[in-house]
Amino acid sequence: MIGNNKGIGILGTGKYLPENIVTNFDLEKMVDTSDEWIKTRTGISERRFLEKDKATSDMATEAAKIALKDAGVSPEDIDLIIVTTVTPDMAFPSSACLVQDNLGCHNAAAFDLEAACTGFIYGLSMAYSQIRVGLCKHVLVISADTLSRITDMTDRNTCVLFGDGAGAAVIGEVPAEKGILALDIGADGSQGRVLIQPAGGSKMPSTEETVKNRLHYIKMEGNEVFKFAVRAMADSSRKVIEKAGLQIEDVDFLVPHQANIRIIESSRKKLKLSKDKVVVNLNKYGNMSSATIPVALDEALKEGKIKENDNVILVGFGGGLTWGSCLLKWHK
Ligand code: UT7
Repeated sequence: MIGNNKGIGILGTGKYLPENIVTNFDLEKMVDTSDEWIKTRTGISERRFLEKDKATSDMATEAAKIALKDAGVSPEDIDLIIVTTVTPDMAFPSSACLVQDNLGCHNAAAFDLEAACTGFIYGLSMAYSQIRVGLCKHVLVISADTLSRITDMTDRNTCVLFGDGAGAAVIGEVPAEKGILALDIGADGSQGRVLIQPAGGSKMPSTEETVKNRLHYIKMEGNEVFKFAVRAMADSSRKVIEKAGLQIEDVDFLVPHQANIRIIESSRKKLKLSKDKVVVNLNKYGNMSSATIPVALDEALKEGKIKENDNVILVGFGGGLTWGSCLLKWHK
């Protein structure tokens, strides 16, 4: 068990993006849309789609290998693997169990966690508490999604938004007063209907009819999600700033869920943060659900943007509806 005065933080990160790039111009050939509309309304230029013979656990495994190397932690030293996803390879075994086998993490427990796009923050929160109470020393949190498999490529309202990818982080002990300073997770199930994959579960098992009616694809009321997202990201960020006893001026970087540049901009303005403090990469990858935050974090770290002792907020929102944020004093 780690002492209560010790910090808990991110020891290493990694990402995996499929090679296959789908541009807005490619989408123009599939539905009634334009590069101009997609760029101005969402900020997205291109996204990646996973090769047909691969699945979520393959991307998760590759991202995790890099994170383990980055952290200098061996597979045998991982006590728990959490894969956050809405597109597991299959209902069971969990993608986390598939990844455990791929990585040779023989000493790890493993489970999937479903909090849609907020999954990485929920995963960090679970990892933090498992380590804090002494049940684990090292936890691997991997957020991986293959949204191209559940996106209706005939629906222009959704097909321009989503992409595939994976991000991973190894969580463990860091010096006192470094690492995770505050966490906030929440949900409002009463709004769940605005972002839903209706069929394929126990309520509406797969039938010829559900396939014919395209009920295995994402259905979304975009405007409702938009309004919720701006409010949730600003409120949750403020909560962790307050919990950590900091001020908005103390925040060095905000790494938000990458769904729409207008959501990110509206949240940034609400928080009165300057543009240079916000990490944005959605132009390249689109919305990869829970993978967006760890991928953006990994890129900001490896580009040398985020440095020792920076105060970093990771903040997300998503299906459920869910939200969450995590404030870290960066240490590696
Ligand atoms: O991770 C969480 C998942 N989801 C989100 O974060 C999504 C949040 N919501 C959004 O990002 C935005 O609401 C959207 C990008 C989905 C939509 O943007 P909007 O500015 O809210 O557009 P809208 O839905 O109000 O539609 C405006 C117009 C409509 O045409 P009419 O009815 O005004 O003639 C749409 O039919 O734009 C049309 N439209 C399109 N036009 C060209 C919708 N999608 C497209 C498209 N290309 N791809």
